[in-house]
Amino acid sequence: MEKAKLGTKSIWAGEKDQLAFGATQVPVVHSVSFGYDDMDEWYEVAVGKKKGHIYGRNTNPTVQAFEEKIRILEGAEAATSFSTGMAAISNTLGTLLFPGDRIVSIKDTYGGTNKIFTEFLPKQQVEVVLCDTGDHDAIEQEIERGCKVLYLESPTNPTVKITDIKRMASAGKAAGAIVVVDNTFATPVNQNPLELGADLVIHSATKFLGGHADALGGSVCGSKELVEAVYHYREINGATLDPMAAYLLLRGMKTLKLRIDQQNKNAQEIAEFLKSIELVEDVFYPGLETHPNHDIAKEQMNGFGGMLSFSVKGGVETVRHLLPKLKFANRAANLGSVETVVGPSRTTSHVECTPEERAAMGIPEGLIRYSAGIEDIDDLKQDLEQAFKALPSNIMIKN
Ligand SMILES: Cc1ncc(COP(=O)(O)O)c(C=O)c1O
Repeated sequence: MEKAKLGTKSIWAGEKDQLAFGATQVPVVHSVSFGYDDMDEWYEVAVGKKKGHIYGRNTNPTVQAFEEKIRILEGAEAATSFSTGMAAISNTLGTLLFPGDRIVSIKDTYGGTNKIFTEFLPKQQVEVVLCDTGDHDAIEQEIERGCKVLYLESPTNPTVKITDIKRMASAGKAAGAIVVVDNTFATPVNQNPLELGADLVIHSATKFLGGHADALGGSVCGSKELVEAVYHYREINGATLDPMAAYLLLRGMKTLKLRIDQQNKNAQEIAEFLKSIELVEDVFYPGLETHPNHDIAKEQMNGFGGMLSFSVKGGVETVRHLLPKLKFANRAANLGSVETVVGPSRTTSHVECTPEERAAMGIPEGLIRYSAGIEDIDDLKQDLEQAFKALPSNIMIKN
């Protein structure tokens, strides 16, 4: 399996060991507990001497199939899973950081992650240093001052900024830090942080991995030692992935390669198309040569991803009129689904922040996050075109 290509792995990986009764699909095992008539066998499973399951908060066969699939897709030694992407992030940081520790990260992480950095970790006497994203020299300087964890996200949510993972991971390792990368936007199809030197790779499986906006989940992949520590934190603190959600994520992941290839293509075309529209102020997409770190993205990514964002002239007022006119897009706080999803960052990824905080992160109030679906590209382009054309004349004139 390890030698197969990614499209093949996304279909076959992780499933075989969990099939029962000749079923060709992984069953959804809803049982909370797993019973034993033999007291010695029960004991051996309970202490980890024998394979098996004891209690659903710890392990479950359907959940294990999901963990094994993401483990193989990320090329990791071990993987564990969570009820959400945020649970994956908070449990990982909870495992690694103690009072007096220092973490270095970037200003542009996902809004929820940013709240952990600015609201929760300081309360636990963890020093958090957030550097300007893309300012590699500044990040390196902070790493060299010493840190327990270096936490990166690339591309970022929502302005798709790129950090040189290889360079930062190497600086992190030299300083003795554990390097953690949120790979949600890229997916293992487009980027392999472990190959670039990261120690742990995190996903909100809710997004591209599941791909159908019908299940929440998260994962952490890396070395056996680190993943076991994170698993232990999770099994006790209880942010377990539900078996039904694991099943839906597994089913979604079978088409991961196909979906991501199509989303990469659609996002690139939409980004180029938006550049030609007069009311569009700025387009953010790592696949555009105008992106400040296009070269780094080209080096470390196999594809530029399905996410882009753009700002419009007229700010919030234009957004208010434009988005409801789109026929082939859900206006929702999600991304990575087969359907195109749009939303203003002020209502989605960075709703937890004040306008001032968003401004400090370089997120204009008129920024629209666009998650390209797998629809036919001509329909997506025509849809945007008609929505811009149908804007009230006062908006067109003011701009
Ligand atoms: C990059 C990134 N990481 C983590 C998360 C959190 O994931 P979840 O909503 O599954 O908790 C999100 C959610 O949008 C995200 O975009």
